[in-house]
Amino acid sequence: MLEDKFGRRFHYLRLSITDVCNFKCNYCLPDGYACDTDRDFLTLPEIKTLVNGFTSLGTSKIRITGGEPSLRKDLPEIIQACASAKGVQHVAMTSNGYKLESDIQKWVDAGLNSLNISIDSLDPRMFAAITGHNKLEAILSGIDKAIALGVKVKINAVLMKQYNEQELQNFLTWLKVTPVTLRLIELMQTGDNVTFFKQNHVSGMPIKEQLLKDGWGQLIRDKAAGPAQEFFHPDYQGKIGLIMPYSKDFCASCNRLRISATGKLHLCLFADQGLDIRPALQSADSTELQAQLIQLLGDKEATHWLQDGFTGATKHLAMLGG
Ligand code: GTP
Ligand code: 5AD
Ligand code: SF4
Repeated sequence: MLEDKFGRRFHYLRLSITDVCNFKCNYCLPDGYACDTDRDFLTLPEIKTLVNGFTSLGTSKIRITGGEPSLRKDLPEIIQACASAKGVQHVAMTSNGYKLESDIQKWVDAGLNSLNISIDSLDPRMFAAITGHNKLEAILSGIDKAIALGVKVKINAVLMKQYNEQELQNFLTWLKVTPVTLRLIELMQTGDNVTFFKQNHVSGMPIKEQLLKDGWGQLIRDKAAGPAQEFFHPDYQGKIGLIMPYSKDFCASCNRLRISATGKLHLCLFADQGLDIRPALQSADSTELQAQLIQLLGDKEATHWLQDGFTGATKHLAMLGG
């Protein structure tokens, strides 16, 4: 069992399999992916040892992230390696949706249960202005396909003052007839987006107050819940989740550990450089890895909250999949 000195339990692994991305989201990679990192990403055998090590210590949910995970040709094999590991109940993925329409069937066949897709705007022009791609229509039809295949779908929208702040009503109209959870994510400051953050950060709190006034009810969070506060409404097929990393006590419910695409353990999304565990992945036996994970977890801090929202070593979230 992975448990830290604050009593938080870690059943949930976020596994980045590449930091390459083909989108240029203005808050993340406005100039696109720069090939300044080595591309020596974890191999399938290394991923298998990694997953075995984590599951032996109680991991039951794995989220595959990137960059954009679907850019890896062996993605179905990776999904299958996660889904077939002993004790895994849930395999999820976060994607920009670029290959959703064409590849969703393969992912489901490999064992994927749920999918988080970024859609920052339902207006095709605004979507293109934010992401650098004119793919909204195709992504929306990929989402319909995923829902029809029984995949649980969440939609991520990062709120930005100068772009999509006024779009809540559009999203609500869509949620009336679409059974997805829309997550409104507060923009997070990273090393690369300091000025953009200052100009565009929108607080989720007033939105929460408005939702409660408009008859949305807040769902009770169970102990294993993620970072979102969730809301439902009897007239809507969809739900809303608010992710507010700058709110008080956000880190108290942290339940996740992260592995970067090159095999570094990150105890927090922010403020750490990553601890190299790749040497322990060189044999199929995960015993050494398990001992190392237990030891490294001892250094996990109570919170990422440093002065002024300073975000440590994280240049952009594509580095680590958010
Ligand atoms: P589930 O709880 O598994 O649905 O996942 P999620 O909401 O964490 O996953 P997703 O990859 O869709 O991330 C949504 C947003 O939440 C991204 O902007 C992440 O960066 C953010 N996020 C997820 N976990 C954390 C965390 O531990 N700390 C902070 N600050 N942000 C997080
Ligand atoms: N702030 C908030 N969310 C971000 N994401 C990427 N960068 C940021 C940021 N700086 C989101 C993406 C994607 C998820 C993995 O992280 O929109 O949905
Ligand atoms: Fe790519 Fe995701 Fe970053 Fe957008 S937010 S540039 S899709 S990694």
